[in-house]
Amino acid sequence: MTQSRPRLSPDQLRSRWWFDNPDHPGTTALCIERYMNYGITLEELTSGRPIIGISQSGSDLTPCNRHHIDLVKRVKDGIRAVGGVPFEFPMHPIHENARRPTAALDRNLAYLGLVEVLHGYPLDGVVLTTGCDKTTPAALMAAATVNIPAMVLSGGPMLNGWRGAERVGSGTIIWELRKRLAAGDIGYDEFLSRATDSAPSVGHCNTMGTASTMNAMAEALGMSLPGSAIIPAPYKERSMAAYQTGERIVELVWQDLRPLEILTREAFENAITTCSALGGSTNAPIHVNAIARHAGIELSNDDWQHLGHRVPLLANVMPAGAYLCEEFYRAGGVPAVMHELLEAGHLHGDALTVNGATMAENLAGKETGDEEVIRRFANPLVDHAGFLNLKGNLFDSALMKTSVISALFRQRFLADPDDPEAFEGRVVVFEGSEDYHARIDDPALGIDERTILVMRGAGPVGHPGGAEVVNMQPPEALIRQGIESLPCLGDGRQSGTSGSPSILNASPEAATGGGLALLETGDRLRIDLRRGEVNLLVDDVELASRRQRLEAAGGYRYPDHQTPWQEIQRTLVEPLDRGMTLANATSYRDVARKSPPR
Ligand code: FES
Ligand code: MG
Repeated sequence: MTQSRPRLSPDQLRSRWWFDNPDHPGTTALCIERYMNYGITLEELTSGRPIIGISQSGSDLTPCNRHHIDLVKRVKDGIRAVGGVPFEFPMHPIHENARRPTAALDRNLAYLGLVEVLHGYPLDGVVLTTGCDKTTPAALMAAATVNIPAMVLSGGPMLNGWRGAERVGSGTIIWELRKRLAAGDIGYDEFLSRATDSAPSVGHCNTMGTASTMNAMAEALGMSLPGSAIIPAPYKERSMAAYQTGERIVELVWQDLRPLEILTREAFENAITTCSALGGSTNAPIHVNAIARHAGIELSNDDWQHLGHRVPLLANVMPAGAYLCEEFYRAGGVPAVMHELLEAGHLHGDALTVNGATMAENLAGKETGDEEVIRRFANPLVDHAGFLNLKGNLFDSALMKTSVISALFRQRFLADPDDPEAFEGRVVVFEGSEDYHARIDDPALGIDERTILVMRGAGPVGHPGGAEVVNMQPPEALIRQGIESLPCLGDGRQSGTSGSPSILNASPEAATGGGLALLETGDRLRIDLRRGEVNLLVDDVELASRRQRLEAAGGYRYPDHQTPWQEIQRTLVEPLDRGMTLANATSYRDVARKSPPR
């Protein structure tokens, strides 16, 4: 049932401390006079209206979110229409494709910046604009920490990309074209021109990559208006959602409905099952676990396996499927997928959402409008779409999407004819992505169709922030022979738009003493999916002596810090399976209420 809640009175608004504080008349006056400089009236600031922040994630540096610069005008219209006062402010830019060494380095930085703004300025509630991959988790992590009423407004995906009659999806086309380029089928100019086909309009990636996944996660968690996550950026419904978000956030403030009431254990479980049914990004467990840690909910990769692995794939969207987000939206988007999950008993229908209704209320009647694009639960694309959480003598946790394992892989790597779930292969080890690019085509490595490629030094410490480099392409010579993928293992991440059969996010990473640091080219690995294990096939004595040698040499070497933040982040960052959060930061919770501004 939609909750009826007691309402705040104007004098209970947080912003009163700044704008109506007779104990500190000087502070009040100074605050008011400067905000009036750009046209906000004295009456607006002093009459007890909710002050609503709008975190602006779009900029020239963040093109995936840039149309929020226009979209927030409609958010402001909605806020003003119901008596609120909007204050737009910038979020630290995060652009997945341009930020070096990796955009992941900035998720925690943007988080810290948002927490300081939301805690330290006169805001009663906030609309968090999101889009590109890490903008969404940074926003939700901050919402959980500060715990003032908050709503996520996604910018939405780009329109479908096309080349003739063929759909061209963001990211996924790059992985395909790189193989064509490596095989000599196309040249550099054609590579660039065909890649740009995937980006025909404003918006974030139009595949079910990390951006669409994380905005879908915001909706599945109950933090965005139902149905809003995947509205394509240029559609008129997108600006309507912006207006409605503005209207709704003011009511959320009066109801004092805060993120920690919405971000419950049940909400996170809903997010996990939804992610599997969407064929969501392998980055989702990192970010969702991080949001959970900031919300004070214990969530681990075991939960992802336990709740998510058995869930079938329902969204027929690239990279797992055939369509793009425009068709996915028209077929019913996130609500249609969640509707199927609810009917099948895989969702908590009573989870509360930002519109004040429960998830079940929001999903009533939201059937798929196109059963080819959003499948019925009884007729999925793949049966087990979620992740396995693998363990063994090299790491405590690493994720694998078993749904992408091909028949060819099964045949080439089968270890034991009596056990179809046990595989073995010889490893070739690379120290980070530069080493990979320098040596992958070296015939002396002896890479063949039964090789497992290993990438280490790519975790949050080794490659500050954690690189999306585990999905490695085979040597050009093998691609020319038609071998387009090899299994990969690594302590880094993989792009959400890649469908490679990889074991990734291995934690702890080599740089912090994880077992991957002990691997040597030529070693053999055994992958046992039934037992959920990956083991290096050397005995414990040999493993111990390798560790001794590594420690005597001063541990695993990684590149120097290039900036102060890289050093700070490397000192504080936790492993990928724990969400790559900053140690200490997750103990701060509900700070707006616990430690009001002084
Ligand atoms: Fe920004 Fe994909 S690169 S959304
Ligand atoms: Mg990415």
